[in-house]
Amino acid sequence: MSEKFVLATHNPAKLREMREILSELGLDVIPPDATGVKVDVEETGETFAENAMLKAKAICAATGLPAIGDDSGLCVDVLNGGPGVYSARYGGESISDAERNKLLLESVKGQGRRDAHFTCAIACAFPNGDTLTAEESCYGVVSYIPMGTDGFGYDPVFNYPPKLKTFAQMTPEEKSEVSHRGKALRAFAEKLGAYLSERAWNELEEEKRRQEKEASENPESVSEVPENPETSEKPETVPEASENPQAAPESGKPVRKTPQHRHNKKKKHKKYHRPNGGTT
Ligand code: IMP
Repeated sequence: MSEKFVLATHNPAKLREMREILSELGLDVIPPDATGVKVDVEETGETFAENAMLKAKAICAATGLPAIGDDSGLCVDVLNGGPGVYSARYGGESISDAERNKLLLESVKGQGRRDAHFTCAIACAFPNGDTLTAEESCYGVVSYIPMGTDGFGYDPVFNYPPKLKTFAQMTPEEKSEVSHRGKALRAFAEKLGAYLSERAWNELEEEKRRQEKEASENPESVSEVPENPETSEKPETVPEASENPQAAPESGKPVRKTPQHRHNKKKKHKKYHRPNGGTT
């Protein structure tokens, strides 16, 4: 069964995007509703990363499951990085996206430079206290007029110079390739993949230590091959002495794979780095 991660959002588009990316790791991303838990998290952080972590930790604490939170917004240089973490509320909560875009264009009118960037932060909190974060930005300029009909929010007024298009003039795939969210999601998936491999490795090591302790306390239990009473099948055998110097000298008789066998095999594949103190 795949491991469940709760995504701290009620936005179906975000859920779909996250599902697509994390299903490649064999993970199941579910909305908070599916856990039967209702949590409203106030975005009181001063940065996108703080807000993303607030959401992830609150949902993780409430559900007991690993949880993912995200936060994003538009930062305009001549507005001192605003609206930034207030992007969703810029101009008031009750106005439409079109009204918000009009207000933004008026704010930068005659300012000369129109440099801006979108940023997206993603955070994941695990019940054992471990955390992961990823943050990416996409740099462009505020356009002079709204252009395009796709997307949402500030998409029609964010011009991405390498493509000479606003985000609202791009297909979802085109946008995802260069956008803050697409890049942050891919960076996060990579970190999560490395973290899960590390965790699996640690579990294997733990099991190895446990079996070694058991074997030293009871040496008989290592070389004896227990038969499966239901199927009468013998456990998997390991290569004989010629291929594997560690195999029992009286090979021919199947030998249960010891933790050392698994350890040696696994060691060859360890390529990732241990997260620093569980947090990256
Ligand atoms: P949140 O990450 O859903 O909280 O996004 C906050 C606000 O930032 C949204 O309501 C939008 O106004 C803006 N925003 C974030 N990402 C994008 C984007 O990709 N396109 C347009 N607006 C965005």
